[in-house]
Amino acid sequence: MTRCVYVNGKFLQRRNAKVDIEDRGFNFGDAVYEVIFLNNGILVDEDEHLNRLEYSLSELSIPLPKPRRILSLLIREVVRLNRITNGFVYLQVTRGVSPRDHLIPNNITPGLVIMARSSNLIAKPSIRDGVSVITAPDLRWHRRDIKTTQLIANCLAKSDAVKAGAGEAWMVDENGFITEGSSSNAWIVTSNREILTRPPSNEILNGITRRTIIALAKEERLKLHERGFTTSEALKADEAFFTSATSLATPVTSIDGHKIGSGKVGPVTKKLQALYIKFSGFQKE
Ligand code: PDD
Repeated sequence: MTRCVYVNGKFLQRRNAKVDIEDRGFNFGDAVYEVIFLNNGILVDEDEHLNRLEYSLSELSIPLPKPRRILSLLIREVVRLNRITNGFVYLQVTRGVSPRDHLIPNNITPGLVIMARSSNLIAKPSIRDGVSVITAPDLRWHRRDIKTTQLIANCLAKSDAVKAGAGEAWMVDENGFITEGSSSNAWIVTSNREILTRPPSNEILNGITRRTIIALAKEERLKLHERGFTTSEALKADEAFFTSATSLATPVTSIDGHKIGSGKVGPVTKKLQALYIKFSGFQKE
């Protein structure tokens, strides 16, 4: 089946889809994006993703390219045209096209790209069995709360992880605290069964999966605190995992070659995974 994408007003076959070489997204990473988990036809936490998209855009003074209702319809149309029921949607908004200049121009029309990819995320072996993680210095700018496409530091960290035989890189700030993963939020479960994840700030992306898992854990009355943790605390943890729209809740079995807990997927991680998967299958459309 030919893949179909939406680019600046048109539904096109993937091979015919092009963007302008002076699009500021291409020249400067002057663009923001969202990735939405599609589970059995359900766009999981779609509203929250569109809220965060609006937040990212407003922090950069990029106008919303279409009203929310239209964005939502376009997303559904891309999913429908590709006949996808499981996978994810990628949506990107760029500031628009303008002769290359660092000075941000006024009044240009934002660019909009929407793609969808089929993938059985829930069945990924990494989600069932866990992965190893490496740590890496966090080399990014200090507005990580904005979901921009400027991801080179994340890409380098992830590539180093894969080269080292790991599945994700956890980035570490100048004080030795883990910020987040290269494309996920980081979590540990301490030896007294306390679930920890760094509180939202400019230093991390406030993950939608993260927020949902916090809400689910609170409903279950699990002990959870939004507080940062250091690499050495993570090494001593009973369990560790990371969350995102595409990794859901992926267990971490070792960090920098040190086994975490028993080195197997822990009970708290399993419980949170199950709660999240159940939640994402029963959302109202
Ligand atoms: N990334 N932190 C970073 C740096 C991320 O790139 C992501 C997600 C997250 C988790 O956010 P959420 O739970 O809303 O997916 C945290 C997406 C999946 C990506 O870049 O492909």
